[in-house]
Amino acid sequence: TYEKLWLIAAMVLIVGFIATITYGSVGLGITMVGDQQDTVEPTELDDERFSDPRVAQVGENEYEAYVTAQMFSFQPDPIEVPEDSEVTFYVTSRDVIHSFSLVGTNVNTMVIPGEVAEMTVEFDEPQDYGVVCNEYCGPNHHNMEGMVHVV
Ligand code: CUA
Repeated sequence: TYEKLWLIAAMVLIVGFIATITYGSVGLGITMVGDQQDTVEPTELDDERFSDPRVAQVGENEYEAYVTAQMFSFQPDPIEVPEDSEVTFYVTSRDVIHSFSLVGTNVNTMVIPGEVAEMTVEFDEPQDYGVVCNEYCGPNHHNMEGMVHVV
């Protein structure tokens, strides 16, 4: 009957939506781990993690990236990590509100002076991800770019 067909069509649509949402949250070669995105803790700029922005290996495949945003760049740049790695980003700002956003993924967090944004991401394969700032931060906001280089 037509009723049955409509029911099936509706279910196909629902499954399609769920698949789209799931795919969207995974992105390309990248997986968010947990829902730690946008969690924040207070920090000072002389915090040793941010006076020397860098990537540190903390386990066999685990890394921590200490990243600063400032008008109009990110440090370090590029952020270089190996494939098949799990990277926890700690990001803070040296001046005004920025964002730390990986182009083509759903990694996107506000970066606030005096606070640390934290998120964990798995990088599955070698690929370059552009880093951009999505918060207006001054005249060169649109040129504020960086790079995550997965090797
Ligand atoms: Cu930094 Cu816009």
